[in-house]
Order: sequence, then structure tokens, then C-alpha cells
Amino acid sequence: MSKVEQHKNLIEIMRNAKRVFVFTGAGASKESGLPTFREIDGEWSKHDPMTFATFEGFISEPVKVWNLYRLRQRQIASAQPNLAHVTIAQMEQYYPDFLLCTQNVDDLHERAGSRKIVKLHGDAWQMRCLECGRIFDIRDYNLPDEFTKESLPKCPGCGSLCRPNIVWFGEYVPQEAIAAALDAVYRCELMLVVGTSGEVSGGYGFAQQARSNGATVVEINPSEGMLTQYAHFWISEPAGVALPRIWESVTKGQGK
Ligand code: OAD
Ligand code: ZN
Repeated sequence: MSKVEQHKNLIEIMRNAKRVFVFTGAGASKESGLPTFREIDGEWSKHDPMTFATFEGFISEPVKVWNLYRLRQRQIASAQPNLAHVTIAQMEQYYPDFLLCTQNVDDLHERAGSRKIVKLHGDAWQMRCLECGRIFDIRDYNLPDEFTKESLPKCPGCGSLCRPNIVWFGEYVPQEAIAAALDAVYRCELMLVVGTSGEVSGGYGFAQQARSNGATVVEINPSEGMLTQYAHFWISEPAGVALPRIWESVTKGQGK
């Protein structure tokens, strides 16, 4: 099939699909200025994940870990959704059966208008009590930009230490999140994989499962990753460029 025929084919499939599952990773927020994890200049090249993304690391260096998350919160607050987030939010309006599942802990999908969303790896704006397990929105409390040992965030309910509500290495993704995502994976006829290396998420098996159930799998990522092997179509471009262009072709003349 020529490139033009392939493109036409993809547009036709996307136009006619009803049940759609979108799966995003850090690459979706890269054009908003937020760093990815495993690229050369990514987060894990600057900060050791054993300290900043494990429970053991948090317990031994809680001030350091919290202050990195405070910095990330400031970065997220000053970032804006890009055209990838905006296009994905538009897709939710178009498809009758739609779910967005993200590994990102920022809120750029929500700020772009996405509502049917499952966050697999937690939320950068939340803290969770180590004792009672309750979850709080950090923005509801007047917390300092930088913590000291004495000022670390405490549970408003029971007074115990709180941690970032992020799924760290060696921890389980909440069962409800996995169940909701899998439900959509099994149902979908089209899966879009956007901006993830698949290094972590390959383990969840979403792309493999969707493909073996007969769904068309489309990946948008400038680089090849662990999930590219499951993609029927791989669009090797930044998501903020490719998604709006493809979506314009899909919705052209549709009055939507
Ligand atoms: P990675 O850093 O592993 O992968 C980011 C992917 O985005 C790479 O494949 C890049 O090629 C791609 N990318 C870069 N720019 C892009 C663009 N403009 N458009 C589309 N794609 C682009 O990030 P994730 O796969 O999201 O977990 O990582 C998964 C998890 O590992 C994260 O949720 C995080 C990390 O440990 C936690 O923090 C719990
Ligand atoms: Zn508590």
C-alpha cells in the first residue's frame, strides 16, 4: 500500500470507529514543556529513580523527594495543554464509547477538557496519608514551596506524614484504574498510543490485548518504542503536530 493509500485508510478507520481507547505517556506533555522520563534529557537522567520514585527512597529522604514534587507542581501549574491534549479532548466528544487512560500525573488532559479519564500512575496534585490512606488535594492547603523536616505535609485528618499520591516503582497501580482501562481495552476497535516508551506500560499489556482482540492500533511517537511492534500504523512525529492534522482530516465535512 502506498503512503497516501495508507493515510486514507487510517482516516477512514478513525472516522468510522465508535469504541476508542487512547493511551498516553509523558511524550503527550512534552510540547507543553514538561520533561519525559527515559529520553536523553529526561527526568531519570537527572534524578535517581531509586530515591525519587520508590517508597524506600521517600522514607530515607522525604524532604528531598517532596521538594522535587513541589518543583514539578510549579512546572505543571505554569504549563499549558498543547494541541495533542486538545485533540484528544475533542475525540471524547466525537466517539460514543471513549476512554482516555494516561500514565501522566500532570493535569493537562483535564485542563484541555478531557473528562472520561483514568489516571494510572496517580496525580501530582494529591498527597496521601501514610497512616489512614486518605487522599487530599495539595492545593486546598497553604503549603510552603519548599519543605523542611519540620514542615513536611501532614494529614489534615490524623496528623501523620503524607506522601505524594504517585505510583512508584515496586508499587501496584490501583485495581479500579486497571479494571476500568482493561474494560475499555477489551471493547475498543481503535486504540491510539501517544507518547509513551512502553517501558513501564508494556507490562500492562493494553496494546497487545487490543491488537489481539482485533482493534486497529495506532501509535504516535517520533521514536520507536516497546509498543511499536503492536501498531498497525506508526506515525513518527510529535503528537502536537500529528494529532491535530489527522483529526482535521477525520472530521472534515462531518460538521463536528
Ligand atoms: P518515557 O519517558 O518512558 O517515554 C516518553 C516517550 O515519549 C518516548 O517514547 C518519546 O519518544 C516520546 N515522545 C517524546 N516527545 C514526543 C512528542 N512530542 N510526541 C509524542 N511522543 C513523544 O515516558 P512514559 O512512557 O510516559 O511513572 O513513562 C512511563 C512511566 O515511567 C511514567 O508514568 C513514570 C515513569 O517512571 C511514574 O512516575 C510513576
Ligand atoms: Zn491520616
